Amino acid sequence: MINPGDYKQIVFFTGAGMSAESGVPTYRGSGGIWHQYNWEEYACQRAFDEDPQRVLKFHQLRRKAVLECEPHVGHLIISELEKSHPHITVVTQNIDGMHQRAGSKNVVELHGSLWRVRCPRHGTSEDIGEIYKNYKCEACNSWLRPDIVWFEDMLNQEVVQKAIKVIASCKLFISIGTSAVVYPAAGFPTIAKDNNAFCVEINPEPSPISHIYDQNIREPASKALANLFPG
Ligand code: OAD
Repeated sequence: MINPGDYKQIVFFTGAGMSAESGVPTYRGSGGIWHQYNWEEYACQRAFDEDPQRVLKFHQLRRKAVLECEPHVGHLIISELEKSHPHITVVTQNIDGMHQRAGSKNVVELHGSLWRVRCPRHGTSEDIGEIYKNYKCEACNSWLRPDIVWFEDMLNQEVVQKAIKVIASCKLFISIGTSAVVYPAAGFPTIAKDNNAFCVEINPEPSPISHIYDQNIREPASKALANLFPG
């Protein structure tokens, strides 16, 4: 059990395992998205340049799948904590918007969002719903690409810097449901540890960086969070 009041700044660092209990498939475990789909056909700029409709339709399928899911009790525990604690940040690798749907406000999305599109000339815009409102920009007719960090993309450096700043100053760092193989995100727990945060890993399976944590909880996200933050 953790008393959040003991920690001035708390970061929840989440990956696909956080959404797994909502029914959103993970990327790498059994039933993982990258076992079913070849990312080179659906999740990189090269694929989009070759066939934008194929890529947009794939992301539409993902939008539909996510909209059929609901945030679980673990998402709600985090969003409730934000109401009583002034310095809670969610740094997520997830693009599904589940934390926001659960009510979290302070969310840093490292890998972008399924619910935004980007025009090469006119920038990003929100697009929520199963079907994309437009495949092409109404102003310039360019294809609108999902505003997601795909394979071979650079991360948005402003977003990365924001995440690093809050992680380096947090006192409690709780990682939930990430395989810790995709960089730079996989390096974030080390930043927290190096800056003397108390670091907790929630994951039924060990990760390559499990040893750096002060505590490893080998349970699903919802159960682990309910035990850590009862009431
Ligand atoms: P992965 O699919 O690589 O890893 C999911 C992790 O969640 C695994 O370590 C599982 O053991 C764990 N897990 C499964 N069920 C869980 C549960 N109920 N509670 C807690 N943990 C559970 O997903 P990520 O680490 O998020 O990038 O993957 C990182 C990035 O790789 C993703 O953001 C995505 C992907 O390519 C983009 O789409 C840009």
